[in-house]
Amino acid sequence: MNRNPLARTVFPRLTIVTGTDTDVGKTYTTAALAVAAWSSGVQRIAVYKPQQTGVRGDDPGDVDDVARLAHTAGVPSAVLTVAEGQRLSEPMAPPPAAAIDGVDLLPITAHVDRVLKLQESHDLVLVEGSGGVLVELDGQRHTIADLARELQSRAGEEVGTVVVTRPDLGTLNHTLLTLEALHHRGVRVSGIVLGSWPARPDPVQQSNRDYLAALPDVGGRRIPLLGAVPAGWNDDVS
Ligand SMILES: Nc1ncnc2c1ncn2[C@@H]1O[C@H](COP(=O)(O)OP(=O)(O)O)[C@@H](O)[C@H]1O
Ligand SMILES: [Mg+2]
Repeated sequence: MNRNPLARTVFPRLTIVTGTDTDVGKTYTTAALAVAAWSSGVQRIAVYKPQQTGVRGDDPGDVDDVARLAHTAGVPSAVLTVAEGQRLSEPMAPPPAAAIDGVDLLPITAHVDRVLKLQESHDLVLVEGSGGVLVELDGQRHTIADLARELQSRAGEEVGTVVVTRPDLGTLNHTLLTLEALHHRGVRVSGIVLGSWPARPDPVQQSNRDYLAALPDVGGRRIPLLGAVPAGWNDDVS
């Protein structure tokens, strides 16, 4: 198994990882981006999850999975800092999860400040959103797109967004809808990643990959397919 599936991928030093849905491989992609960065010489990497839902007590969250996957692929623990904005116990979107836990959600500004702070002491910051792009993060209708746009306005050209997508039937519509929504909100997309690419793709998956590799321009910009994370990446070592 290729330990570094996104090697030579170019992405900004503050990258937001979002996706077409939940369970599309954002966490795996975040880990693969960390591995790619480390293998190209980046020494201080931070991973931030603004809202971690579906965890109780010390349950591992997505950032812990990123750390485990990256470590398995050879990234030394000292290279990676992991941080969460807020933990909620129900596996739901943040607003209803916060309501059940009886807590207020952090405002978007708190995440912006946290990410910019991490950026001061790290060469790369990866931010993994919850679910897809229009999931509310703060109970005031702000989404990961708003966080990305605010970070763009604060940290400029160093900021980009990666969209993780599935290879299966239906992905072309979901991918184009996501890209259009991000474009409409002024979010700069660095590229697309296939979150889980099967060892033996069927003709639909192969055709989708070919299509995603040569997408129609979105808002006059070409969006590259940055790569694919193989299904089962790192599963052979635990
Ligand atoms: N490249 C991959 N290899 C193996 N399993 C994967 C891969 N990508 C996704 N998965 C599976 O799908 C689930 C969801 O992936 P994850 O990265 O957690 O998605 P997201 O962060 O978008 O919710 C994982 O728990 C894992 O079982
Ligand atoms: Mg995840």
